[in-house]
Amino acid sequence: MRLTILGGGGFRVPLVYRALLGDRGQGRVTHVTLHDLDPSRIAAIGRVLAEQAREVPGAPEVRITTDLDEAVTGADFVFSAIRVGGLEGRAMDERVALEEGVLGQETVGAGGIAYGLRTLPVAVHIARRVAALAPDAWVINFTNPAGTVTEAMSRHLGDRVIGICDSPVGLGRRVAHALGVDPSAVRLDYAGLNHLGWLRAVRVGGRDLLPGLLADDAAVTSFEEGKLFGGEWLRTIGAIPNEYLHYYYFHREAVEAARAARSTRGALLIEQQRRFYGGTGGSALELWESTRLERETTYMAENREAAGAGERASSDLASGGYDRVALALMRAIALDERTTLILNVRNRGSIAALDEDAVVEVPCFVDANGARPMVVDPLPGHAQGLVTSVKAAERAVIEAAATGSRRAALRAFAVHPLVDSVALAGRLLERYERELPQLGYLGGGN
Ligand code: G6P
Ligand code: MN
Repeated sequence: MRLTILGGGGFRVPLVYRALLGDRGQGRVTHVTLHDLDPSRIAAIGRVLAEQAREVPGAPEVRITTDLDEAVTGADFVFSAIRVGGLEGRAMDERVALEEGVLGQETVGAGGIAYGLRTLPVAVHIARRVAALAPDAWVINFTNPAGTVTEAMSRHLGDRVIGICDSPVGLGRRVAHALGVDPSAVRLDYAGLNHLGWLRAVRVGGRDLLPGLLADDAAVTSFEEGKLFGGEWLRTIGAIPNEYLHYYYFHREAVEAARAARSTRGALLIEQQRRFYGGTGGSALELWESTRLERETTYMAENREAAGAGERASSDLASGGYDRVALALMRAIALDERTTLILNVRNRGSIAALDEDAVVEVPCFVDANGARPMVVDPLPGHAQGLVTSVKAAERAVIEAAATGSRRAALRAFAVHPLVDSVALAGRLLERYERELPQLGYLGGGN
């Protein structure tokens, strides 16, 4: 099986490769093609992979290219994890929003809209090239904002593009741990959009263990989401939200904490990554691992500080999130190994409040035919409201990128629930246009 990784010089690529090395089964990935526009980043990651593969018999062969058409031709799976505009773009998305007094975050609110506008033309170009050159390939999209990007790509690839995220998996693992049950034995009733979902039931052998967990304050506040939101709020809504909902439910506190911080997440990561990609001598793998650990340790640090949640649990630093979802997804499709995974796919009636083609994040049945969303219980009323308005903002981003409409871009900012004024939306748009002329909607296509 041949896997192509777009964004092959990306920092998380060794996680995927590590998962591949651990797969000894039949029909496993034998060839990996790394595609990236930056040869120096790809070379740094290539050194890590070479060390990982040392003494692993039958390790997947790694090939490197900067040519997109060459990369996708012949691929069975195309894994897309690109960052258009790099970390500099991310830092700018975050900083501009914060300077205007609203949330500055990579995927949520104004920052996520700017990121989407910049990313979609590139993602759509990739979708078109895959459709033309590798029409039977499956695209696994990890490129953020993952829900918006997957939906834009699905207009060209249909159900052959599937979006993934590690946050629902992490939530499921933490909940299973708090309940003292095996994570593989629980059925998660989770639904929403990417970075905007709720866990409403945790079934083990047909019994829902969530009400009992919510009632046990010590147990429910023993892990990340409980610490962020507090047991009382979880009992009030009768569900456990994705950690990204901290930006909504504690919007004010999250904005204040981000504004008080020394630098944005993106700016911090620029510094951190410079040390890795610029590193010379010694073991590339060791340097990568220590950088990764540092990155995980500081993840959502401001939110945790605002909530008084303390340090991240050491079990959350181990990672093994999205790389495992990616591998499980590839195996299920390639080998017809039936499984259930929480994925980003077209809705097809799964969430009643949204239309058929809206990409949602829900449990899916996966086999050789791809991923089919399961019908889930209706979301609580306020959650339906949020999902519907965030989807409207996402769609405006897709429209703006596809047509070049400035009005659609303005609408994207203005209707987002975390942008509280149309005047502000106009200012945000102007500032993003000034700071980064290559915002997608100006060009259309790439
Ligand atoms: C989680 C999310 C990803 C996101 C990442 C950001 O893993 O699911 O979608 O890209 O966090 O982490 P970072 O270290 O880049 O802030
Ligand atoms: Mn994610």
